[in-house]
Amino acid sequence: MKVLGIETSCDETGIAIYDSENGLLAHELYSQVKLHADYGGVVPELASRDHVRKIVPLVQRTLASAGLSKDDIDGIAYTRGPGLIGALLVGSSMARALAYAWEIPTVGVHHMEGHLLAPMLDERAPEFPFVALLVSGGHSMMVDVKGIGDYTVMGESVDDAAGEAFDKTAKLLGLDYPGGPLLAKLAEQGESGHYKFPRPMTDRPGLDFSFSGLKTFAANTIRSSDGEHQTRANIAKAFEEAVIDTLLIKCRRALKQSGHRRLVMAGGVAANKQLRATFEAASVKGGFEVYYPSFEYCTDNGAMIAYAGCQRLLAGESTPLGEKAMPRWPLDSLTAL
Ligand code: KG4
Ligand code: ZN
Repeated sequence: MKVLGIETSCDETGIAIYDSENGLLAHELYSQVKLHADYGGVVPELASRDHVRKIVPLVQRTLASAGLSKDDIDGIAYTRGPGLIGALLVGSSMARALAYAWEIPTVGVHHMEGHLLAPMLDERAPEFPFVALLVSGGHSMMVDVKGIGDYTVMGESVDDAAGEAFDKTAKLLGLDYPGGPLLAKLAEQGESGHYKFPRPMTDRPGLDFSFSGLKTFAANTIRSSDGEHQTRANIAKAFEEAVIDTLLIKCRRALKQSGHRRLVMAGGVAANKQLRATFEAASVKGGFEVYYPSFEYCTDNGAMIAYAGCQRLLAGESTPLGEKAMPRWPLDSLTAL
């Protein structure tokens, strides 16, 4: 089965074709980062308009790069939620119009399920069950994954998401939007040991996260610093270490609590090199295995939506053309396959 995947939940138009027999056949991505950079964050109305502009040419380009025509496509998967409502409506309208015209089924995919299953696109794909740490710009979640759709949320952020904390702290450091990757780059030049950031919510039981305190701590540290480049790099380093350390403490706890020995990291923050290196070292010591998607499938993309949708379509699921988009949609309300 060949499935066209459409991702438009935020500021990336992602289109891909996944084939249940031959894997990923093509994927195209258009990032709106430059459009939103002047505003220091995503402007929802501008995001919707840009998706409208880009989506059809990207579908054409994806089909062409796979060497396929519309008649080869067996189903369409689109991001139904969660995300920005206007942006979601562009992708879901496109998906439904194509499904209607091409007379094929369509399925609405949960964006975080897409992230969670993205490592399945890799040759070294994890087996079920596993613990998933989902760390993106909009969500931070620890999930017990027993199979596709069988998700129990073990913990989540009570305030900012991990990526959001990266972006806000980057802004305080004078870096452009989206600041996560730029902060990581600055941290590479930083030296450990100059600042001691807190490890929020690690001194009590439970698997919830809180990252807004780290941002406030960073704001105060930056305000009372000399503002020199090396100082800013040292602060970036200390912030990054605090986030990684906090995530690691919680992941060890989640593995222990669930009894699983596999950990999957996904979402934009899972692209962080220091995070990957730290977790890899910890996995050797801790006797667990760690998996993450390749860099391009960590941040938003169409491939993860095509993959997740393909699994659901193969299981006989489809979403009626009249169903609404879901800007808010609890992950553990999905049906297990
Ligand atoms: O998954 P994603 O593309 O979008 C959402 O679904 O939110 O994640 C984007 C987030 C942004 O906050 C971005 O700053 C962060 O992921 N991010 C990073 C890195 N690359 C992306 N954060 C830290 N280090 C990175 N290398
Ligand atoms: Zn995402």
